[in-house]
Amino acid sequence: MVRAVPARSRIFENLGIDYCCGGKKPLAEVCRAKGLDPATVVAMLTALDGVSDASSANPDAMGLAELCDHIEQVHHDYLREELPRLDFMTRKVAAVHGDHETRLHEIRQVFESFNVAITAHTEEEESVVFPKIRQLEAADGDKAAGVAELKTVFAKLESEHDNAGAALERFKGLTDGYTPPDWACNTFRAMYDALANLERNMHQHVHKENNVLFPRALALGAGTAPDTVRNDLNAMKDEPAEPSSPACYLHEFQDR
Ligand SMILES: [Fe+2]
Ligand SMILES: [Fe+2]
Repeated sequence: MVRAVPARSRIFENLGIDYCCGGKKPLAEVCRAKGLDPATVVAMLTALDGVSDASSANPDAMGLAELCDHIEQVHHDYLREELPRLDFMTRKVAAVHGDHETRLHEIRQVFESFNVAITAHTEEEESVVFPKIRQLEAADGDKAAGVAELKTVFAKLESEHDNAGAALERFKGLTDGYTPPDWACNTFRAMYDALANLERNMHQHVHKENNVLFPRALALGAGTAPDTVRNDLNAMKDEPAEPSSPACYLHEFQDR
């Protein structure tokens, strides 16, 4: 399994599974011996695969309807699978170890707000925004009215992306860069690993929406280049966009 996807080694290492010398044993057998739930381990590996796929996909090569489908399948489905698991882990680890590491309570609080906000956000994208984008791409004739409507919606969604980015930065700070203490149990380690994966997936996710999908959708009707539309969107947000601002996690992602 590690030969096929080397990045899986990090999950095995964090869970204390020997994928090197003991790597020929069936996963279910190893999980039983370690007291781990095989389904949870498979879900972690699957989530990691989703991130790998997301990294290799080129959003610029997709049509807008295809890009909406891709975001739903790679990023929204990922959140639908991971958020309930993180909800369980952040609650459990805070309850069990919160007296020893008080920041676990803060992680739990930040996660609860993040969970509610990002769930409502993705639901709005899937039920209202993406259908409008698909419609606009397929439509003939003047698209100016549709573009004007989307422009306001995109500014709101981008502000929500910034809020999500701020929550992810808090997770990183509260976990010392997702580094568990020596005494951390498997669930504790799995939670940190899941939060690190969440950050990676969200960076890809928001990049595809802010920098590809939204500007290209607006350019459909505006007859302008996506870069020009990108500047217009920045001007509409509450805080003026500053490319060198360290508070904007997207710039950090784009520089990698
Ligand atoms: Fe999204
Ligand atoms: Fe979004």
